[in-house]
Amino acid sequence: FSYPIPINEPVHSYAPGSAEREALKRTLTQLKSEQIDVPMYIGGDEVRTGKLVALNPPHEKKFLLGHYHAGNESHVRQAIDCALEAKEAWANMNWEDRAGIFLKAAELISTKYRYHMNGTTMLGQSKNVYQAEIDSACELIDFLRFNVHFLSEIYKQQPISAAGMHNRTEWRPLEGFVLAITPFNFTAIGGNLPTSAALCGNVVVWKPAHTQVYSAQMFLRILKEAGLPDGVINLIYVDGPTLGKVCFSHRDFAGVHFTGSTGVFNQMWKTIGENVSNYKSYPRIVGETGGKDFVIAHSSADPQVVATALLRGAFEYQGQKCSAASRAYLPSNIAEEVKQLLIAGVSSFKMGSVEDFGNFINAVIDEKSFDKIAKYIDNAKASPDATVLVGGTYDKSQGYFIHPTVIEAKDPKYVTMCEEIFGPVLTIHVYDADKFGETLHLVDETSPYALTGAVIARDRFAVELATERLRNAAGNFYINDKPTGAVVGQQPFGGARASGTNDKAGSMINLYRWLSARTIKETF
Ligand code: SER
Repeated sequence: FSYPIPINEPVHSYAPGSAEREALKRTLTQLKSEQIDVPMYIGGDEVRTGKLVALNPPHEKKFLLGHYHAGNESHVRQAIDCALEAKEAWANMNWEDRAGIFLKAAELISTKYRYHMNGTTMLGQSKNVYQAEIDSACELIDFLRFNVHFLSEIYKQQPISAAGMHNRTEWRPLEGFVLAITPFNFTAIGGNLPTSAALCGNVVVWKPAHTQVYSAQMFLRILKEAGLPDGVINLIYVDGPTLGKVCFSHRDFAGVHFTGSTGVFNQMWKTIGENVSNYKSYPRIVGETGGKDFVIAHSSADPQVVATALLRGAFEYQGQKCSAASRAYLPSNIAEEVKQLLIAGVSSFKMGSVEDFGNFINAVIDEKSFDKIAKYIDNAKASPDATVLVGGTYDKSQGYFIHPTVIEAKDPKYVTMCEEIFGPVLTIHVYDADKFGETLHLVDETSPYALTGAVIARDRFAVELATERLRNAAGNFYINDKPTGAVVGQQPFGGARASGTNDKAGSMINLYRWLSARTIKETF
């Protein structure tokens, strides 16, 4: 069974007056009238604990979408037990049949549940319509289809055989269960982390961020409709320490597929290390963590190209992408023009609820995030080393709204040039246009992260120099573009250093981590 390279799911535009725009609006109204009661899904059963946690949209914090049922230690144990029980039948199922389930889920999202996936992502995670469409429809569908293609390519790989023998590789799933821990900022990552491991024949315990539960449960319901057998993916809502305590001390823990903060990943790695002699096999540890993503413009750059890359790269989805542009280095010859374009661009952004499709900027995810971002802004306002060029205001009375903010830092090591903020804050530093080489060095050493970055230049030698010198500064490097928006199958995504294990989401590299090869030699 060979599954050819799929075509990326076309992006719907939801143009004013279009039928799709009206349909999505109707779905939003319907979702808001539902008062959903979200259970956990363990062994195929809906589990309601009665320990209710409110689901409020970040942009309308007093409105209740519904509740979810939070679990405890015993639910983690149950989820692991159910996963292990489902394992044998799932691992032995023809892989074409496993693939069929995920391809059907992709089809269901594309044709039947697109507005539900987008609607739950818009309301639950405060994404505007375009940001939801490229995430919870297109990227999620692409992950499901491309992973089937990548796995079909992996399964084809076989060793040679000398005369009188037959050698082969059996691509087995891992022994035990895989834990998937997913973030709020991409519904597609929430979908990819459990399903990529499951496609390879693994069974999974999936814990989404509490702010992602609304879209995560929608996706799980689609997987069930597509025919996913009970127990293969178990969706639970528990806090991190409870999850870690049970999973990382379990003998059958086979691996973790994680996207989240560097701090949590480091802690997890240490705990796994402490338990290593208790496991049946060395677990796979796959993580995509933080970023402090850069844009460096060269003196030959077109100021408009720089400004557009920054406005989109820094502020789409309120900068809550691990790939978001958050520090920019502008050469002195074009800096003033770029600054004016940034100020004009930010001033033109409309901010407000996701339900008004004209709003480019929406609320940030929650109060904790709001407070953290606001503190960075306040510090910049008070600092002699920084100037707020535009934005700098915030208001959480109705929802968690932060005005997109551009800070200029005199000191290239000013705190907002170095630390991950995860919000709509861009810091720029103006460098002497003759010192491009030195500035590349500065870009490389300023941050421990290495996720995404971009160079903007018309001079080919500058492009070449930046590409060479910044070899290890970003896992995804963009030339004359913003550093966000990797497309599955086109730009495999991930970074090294403090940004993760660089096991490229949406590629064969990632799938290899969920397989354990057995070499078989038969002699005639
Ligand atoms: N893949 C996303 C991007 O490229 C981030 O996770 O923006």
